[in-house]
Amino acid sequence: MPHDTSVLSTPATLKIVIVGHVDHGKSTLVGRLLHETDSLPEGKVDSLREVCAKRGMPFEWAFVMDALQAERDQGITIDTAQIPFRSALRPYVIIDAPGHKEFLKNMITGAASADAAVLVVDAIDGVQEQSRRHGYLLHLLGLRQLAVVVNKMDAVDFSRERFDQVSSEIRAYLAEIGVTPTEIIPIAARHGDNVVARSTATPWYAGPTVVEALDGFRAAAAPTDLPLRFPVQDVFKFDHRRIIAGRIESGRLKVGDRLLFSPSGKTARIASIESWNREMPAIAAAAGQSIGVTLDEQIFIERGQIASLIDAAPTATDLFRARLFWLGRTALSEGRRYKLKLATAEHIVTVEKVERVIDVTDLASVSNDRVERNAVAEVVLRARGPVALDPFADNPRTGRFVLVDDFDIVGGGVISAEGLSTQCGAAAGQPADITAVAHKVTLRERWLTNRHKGGILWLTGLSGAGKSTIAMEVERRLFQKGYQVFVLDGDNLRQGLNADLGFNAQDRAENIRRVGEVAHLFAQAGMIVVTAFISPYRQDRERARAAAPRLFHEIHVKAGVETCEARDPKGLYAKARQGAIAEFTGITAPYEPPPHPELVVDTEALDIEEAVEQVIRYVERDMQRDDEAAVLPPLQPDVAL
Ligand code: ADX
Repeated sequence: MPHDTSVLSTPATLKIVIVGHVDHGKSTLVGRLLHETDSLPEGKVDSLREVCAKRGMPFEWAFVMDALQAERDQGITIDTAQIPFRSALRPYVIIDAPGHKEFLKNMITGAASADAAVLVVDAIDGVQEQSRRHGYLLHLLGLRQLAVVVNKMDAVDFSRERFDQVSSEIRAYLAEIGVTPTEIIPIAARHGDNVVARSTATPWYAGPTVVEALDGFRAAAAPTDLPLRFPVQDVFKFDHRRIIAGRIESGRLKVGDRLLFSPSGKTARIASIESWNREMPAIAAAAGQSIGVTLDEQIFIERGQIASLIDAAPTATDLFRARLFWLGRTALSEGRRYKLKLATAEHIVTVEKVERVIDVTDLASVSNDRVERNAVAEVVLRARGPVALDPFADNPRTGRFVLVDDFDIVGGGVISAEGLSTQCGAAAGQPADITAVAHKVTLRERWLTNRHKGGILWLTGLSGAGKSTIAMEVERRLFQKGYQVFVLDGDNLRQGLNADLGFNAQDRAENIRRVGEVAHLFAQAGMIVVTAFISPYRQDRERARAAAPRLFHEIHVKAGVETCEARDPKGLYAKARQGAIAEFTGITAPYEPPPHPELVVDTEALDIEEAVEQVIRYVERDMQRDDEAAVLPPLQPDVAL
């Protein structure tokens, strides 16, 4: 159904947050807004005025907030209060919380979310530490619609100069943290200047009043109007059909649409929509519905993939920035691993970097390396393989996640858009304008023609352990037996494809990323590819594995540093000992052995011939053995040309 745009439809409620120091007039502004939009209960202001008169104290608009708060306290406790009011255009809700902690927890974990914000700055004090912290809060919340009000203009005689000064200070600070205010408005909340009614005291100001600015903001799009996100919950097999089940989180789909499953990148058309309790077959479905679809092609889909339309896919990246609220008993720190749950997917992530930690009681930045319970932090997370996600600001449903440690939820967070596209390119994600083209020859057909399964034999081990020697000999022997096989060797690739890379951890990671990609292509071509790289970092190898887990066979070519140093075929250990080679693996740079390799080839115990034999045996027995290989016609050894 098309979205109803008739003038009679009720406009959606806009959720706003008002931030700023109490002394800068936040409560006064809220009191005024409620009063001037006739949103307060009948007689509320009058009775407050009376109470003040009796006690001989001047009436303050902030008392309205206090009175509302007191009423709330008598009722049930709620974490986040929602104060409603209405302009001539539409309904609003001000999201307020008793303290920063509850407020941030709700906002960051996505329990409450705002569409727009108002930042209150005092015209006398100007931009101080407190205003900076509140500005930073807006950055944390990732809000894109912001009005700044410069309050207490009456106290500076409505001076245009002072307003310009404060405006440029706040603009400069917000620019530093990537926030752009939509409007900056001079007001005197206490007297109502430029709150709802235009002030006669600021003839030099042509911009909107506070309410006009709010009316100018856009309400969040309804979930049905956002791009399609259909996370796969389960795949059921019914007779010969496979039904892909899940809940549509946003957008719409219909029979005939081509779905793209992220992060796998596979596509197929919707053949039918199966809904559980309906007699008529459905031809379309929308956000909020739980459905099952069948596809026109049998592609391998698992739980966790997110289906979208091809031209509006989520981002697929293994590296991303997030803002999170930490609940764990043990502090979060760099290098720690957690399980990330996003929509229906689960991924293991490592904290690559803690960029900033905020103490929620006063919003001050605290030490950068540990995130204690109840703190908020900006972090960079790295997953072992690509994760399908959206920035929270674009799609809240697929833009938030929880972190789990030992079955406990230890944190909640939202994906930040910052740097996502650049991270994506480096992380071999799917850049926005690139769509995978499907091959017309399947891997299975290639295997049938080759008469063997392909895959990656990933040799890892110290320099001098015997990787290259074994790889080349295995290539020769498998080739002779009729296998399609090719070796990618570290020293060889470093003369061409990877000639621009050195040996620091970052360059090695890139070296292994490229090799992983190339090896994956060879494997997709149906071949057996043998890689011989030190590949000292576990994480880099895991990334190579994640690209094609079912085709990846990790082989640890094992020999101790003493042995390799004694062999020293290229004289490099000697050079490293003399300090002529920096960051030499095993001497001045680490080697992380694989904890669970598919095969260990111990070259201290075996000679080359035996080691090669062990790999060949693995290829012929284990690598070829499984359901798919069972249907392959047997290879005839030593095919004569
Ligand atoms: S990796 O660590 O990035 O996987 P790669 O296998 O490509 O390394 O290259 C290792 C080869 O480079 C070694 O066999 C050795 O000949 C040479 N080399 C030169 N400098 C170093 C170094 N600092 N550490 C390890 N190997 C080095």
